[in-house]
Amino acid sequence: MKRDNNIGGVSIEMEQGGDRVGHVNKVIGYGKRVIVKKRKPYHHHHRRIHNKKTVPNKVPKALQELFVSCRETFKGPGGTVPSPQDVQKLCHILDSMKPEDVGLRSDLQFFKPENIVKENQRVTCTTIYSCENFSLCLFFLPAKGVIPLHNHPEMTVFSKLLLGQMHIKSYDWVDSEVSHNLLHQPSQFRLARLKANNVFTAPCDTSVLYPQSGGNIHEFTAITPCAVLDVLGPPYSKDDGRDCSFYRDHPYTAFPNGESGKVKEENDSYGWLEEIEMPENSQMDGIEYLGPPIIETAL
Ligand SMILES: [Fe+2]
Repeated sequence: MKRDNNIGGVSIEMEQGGDRVGHVNKVIGYGKRVIVKKRKPYHHHHRRIHNKKTVPNKVPKALQELFVSCRETFKGPGGTVPSPQDVQKLCHILDSMKPEDVGLRSDLQFFKPENIVKENQRVTCTTIYSCENFSLCLFFLPAKGVIPLHNHPEMTVFSKLLLGQMHIKSYDWVDSEVSHNLLHQPSQFRLARLKANNVFTAPCDTSVLYPQSGGNIHEFTAITPCAVLDVLGPPYSKDDGRDCSFYRDHPYTAFPNGESGKVKEENDSYGWLEEIEMPENSQMDGIEYLGPPIIETAL
C-alpha cells in the first residue's frame, strides 16, 4: 500500500502576533515521542514581546494558568492520579479555554466547511509543552479523520474539544489485566464496558479519563474539522511501560463469555477489544507549535 508522507496540503496557521504557518518537519505515529525540529529560534519570541505592533493579544492567561496548574497537579511520582480537587481545578480552566488561547481561530482555512477533504488526509498533532510528568498536545482532525481506539496506560487524560464536532467512543476494562490473563488466556479478546458513545460539539466541557475508569480506551472520529487539546499526565513513555496500544472492538454478542465471565449488568453495554498493530490511519503528522508560548516561571 502506498504511504503518503506528504501532509496533503494541510497547513494550520497559529496566531502569534503576525500570521505564521506550521510546517511539517517529521512524520510521527501516535504515542511516539514527538520530535520536531525547531525551524525558528527564540528570537521570534523576543520580537513578539518587544514589538507591540505585531502583538495584538497578550499571552493568554488561560494557557499559562493551565500550565501552572498542571505542574502543580502532576508533581507527584509518575502515574499518581490527581486528587478530585485538582481534577476539578484543571477542568475548570480547560472548560473556559478558547481556540484563541492556543493560537487558533474558527475562521482558519483548516476549519472551514468548504475545506475539501483530501483522500487519506492525516491527523496532525503538535506539542505545546512536554516534560516527564505531563504534556499538553493539540490534535487536528480533518473531517472524517479518525484517531483509532487506543489506550492510556496508568495515565490521566483531560480532553477539551476546542473547535468542531466529533464522535467519541470509549471503553474501560471490565477485569484487571492480571485477572484477565488468569481467566481468559490465551484469549486475544478482552471484555470492556462501553463508557461513552456520543457526539461532542465545541464549545463543550472537558472530559477526563483515568487509568481504570472514565473511558481509558477511546476513539475520536471527526464529523467536521476538529481541534482537541489534550493534557496527558504522565505522557506516553515506552521505557516506563506506558506504550500506546491499539484495538479493534467487536460486539459483545460476537463471542460467548464462558462460565467464568462476569455477570453482565442490565444497563451496561459491553464489547470485546482485540489488540491490533498500529493501523495505517493512525499515522500522524507532527507540526511545530507556533501558538502563544508558555512561560516557564520559577516554582
Ligand atoms: Fe487518547
